[in-house]
Amino acid sequence: MKINIVYWSGTGNTEAMANLIKEGAQGKGAAVTLKNVSEASAADLNCDVLVLGCPSMGVETLEESEFEPYIQSIETQVTGKKIALFGSYGWGDGEWMREWSERMENAGATLAVESLIVNDAPSGGSADECRAFGALIAG
Ligand SMILES: Cc1cc2nc3c(=O)[nH]c(=O)nc-3n(C[C@H](O)[C@H](O)[C@H](O)COP(=O)(O)O)c2cc1C
Repeated sequence: MKINIVYWSGTGNTEAMANLIKEGAQGKGAAVTLKNVSEASAADLNCDVLVLGCPSMGVETLEESEFEPYIQSIETQVTGKKIALFGSYGWGDGEWMREWSERMENAGATLAVESLIVNDAPSGGSADECRAFGALIAG
């Protein structure tokens, strides 16, 4: 199984999640590619599951300068595609992730697993959740 992970991270929390998710998926034998969104293109849709990570920014939005344009660039190509979403947040209640999940489903994508949110940096139980998320995607 081939899994591509594409993420944006300002202060490293979503990046830490991405690395843990990679670890969990590799533990299940998946071939995992991890990319910062600045290096990604629509060609990264060429995999079994595209895993997308972005923290809650703005007011419960995706990061606007790099990640939102990337999502717009793939949004018309995700019909029938398996994807999974994750990201870190601060003081909110996960609204950005609920909206993002609904948006991708409305675009025709299938969420392979329930979207994963972690408050601030993953550690302890939330780090385990990230590894389990990766394992579940690969499983
Ligand atoms: C400009 C800015 C806007 C943010 N807006 C929200 C928000 O609307 N809701 C929320 O829960 N957290 C918000 N946060 C907090 C980040 O989501 C949180 O710090 C997260 O851990 C950052 O992840 P990162 O280290 O991957 O960049 C915001 C942070 C910044 C810098």
